[in-house]
Amino acid sequence: MTTLDEATIAELEREDLAHLLHPQYYAPEHQHPVIFESGEGVWLTDVRGRRYLDGLASLWNVAVGHGRAELADAAAEQMRKLAFTTAYTGFSNEPAIRLASKVLSLTYGNMGGIFFTNSGSESNEGALKTARFYWNLKGRTGKVKLVARERSYHGGTIAASAMTGLPPFWKYFGPLPPEVVRATRPENLECDCTPNTDGECACWIEAAIEREGADTVAAVICEPVKGAGGVFPPSDDYFRKLRAICDRHEVLLIADEVITGFGRTGHWFAMQRWGVEPDIVTVAKAITSAYVPMGGFIVSREIMDALQDLPPDARFMHAYTNSAHPAGSAVGLRNLRIFEDEGLVERAQRMGDRLGEGLRAAFGEHAHVTNVRHLGLMAGMTLVRDAASGEAYDASEGIGGRVARHMREEGGVITRFVGDHIVFAPPLVVNEDEVDTILDATRAAVRAATEG
Ligand SMILES: Cc1ncc(COP(=O)(O)O)c(C=O)c1O
Repeated sequence: MTTLDEATIAELEREDLAHLLHPQYYAPEHQHPVIFESGEGVWLTDVRGRRYLDGLASLWNVAVGHGRAELADAAAEQMRKLAFTTAYTGFSNEPAIRLASKVLSLTYGNMGGIFFTNSGSESNEGALKTARFYWNLKGRTGKVKLVARERSYHGGTIAASAMTGLPPFWKYFGPLPPEVVRATRPENLECDCTPNTDGECACWIEAAIEREGADTVAAVICEPVKGAGGVFPPSDDYFRKLRAICDRHEVLLIADEVITGFGRTGHWFAMQRWGVEPDIVTVAKAITSAYVPMGGFIVSREIMDALQDLPPDARFMHAYTNSAHPAGSAVGLRNLRIFEDEGLVERAQRMGDRLGEGLRAAFGEHAHVTNVRHLGLMAGMTLVRDAASGEAYDASEGIGGRVARHMREEGGVITRFVGDHIVFAPPLVVNEDEVDTILDATRAAVRAATEG
């Protein structure tokens, strides 16, 4: 391990500020970034040699943890043999073929094929295009709209930004495609649904479909657990109800499993918990544990059959240069073998329960914390001025940021905040002691931020 001297670090900071545009960029907050140098398991080390526990698996994606030589070897071996070749119609490669079969064996029983992408955003964009394409093949040319939910995050392309139900992601980027419509709380709603942890229920989506007219709606897109919006798991019957609504209105159900896919919730795919099968599943992140960028959208057998039996004048003209990338696929295959060899899906459930129960024990009755929640190895909680009345903190107080900063600077644990929500999703390889380190850092940070 090398660490850098202060003069070199200052030079890197200057060059970073001068030349590198970062995701969610805001220069005043980027004067002294943490510059990472190496990683091992759940631990990251920066260029000063300081260690941090990676409490969000970086961006929910480094599922098998950092420093996996097996994945570096898989990439190197494949790159030496064949780094890239086209996978456009008429060409293929062995790792991509094998990864497609592997993913299909792990996902929902009704799935028929996968199209590989480079990212979650591309996967969602492709899913929407595929839903429209499918309805066009069926002669239902008016079915073009997509219903999306509040608080959801679906990515950074124009269509994925429109799908995203978090307004800060829209500011100054408009106009967004009007065919993406939001499922908001219907006026005078009366139903007996158990609400999700963010208050929504499936009736919101049915109301949106009815408002727009089912003949105009191609699909609904949902994260099984809303992640970047603050980790909000659904009620136990939400997706069964939503599946019935989609069937009733002949609308496709797209599961955005970019975070939840590949074990994060204690199942290979999240809706397996509730026995629900979507029509299209989008993935990225943990498919390669982010050792190389890769994603995909998985389509049902019904959609696959339609795509394999196109009329002579139709062709599925969806394409990315790097689709079915051989090196990415080789890493993906090796990565999923690690999941199986080390029982990481079952481990996600076990460690997630330890984390969730630990958070509940610490904050279940806390004066300044409410709505402690988890599903598998994803957890969230909400900071409030007064838990008894539910009074929120003023946004200007930046309570979430203060807690996250204390966790990082004093507790050595990196995680994220979304407004007043603190979220957790460490690598699936996290152990008991490391979960307890996250809990200790969180307790200390909440104490300092709320009592200090
Ligand atoms: C649920 C979900 N969908 C889509 C995306 C977009 O993925 P990417 O950033 O790889 O484009 C993300 C990214 O965090 C996500 O969390």
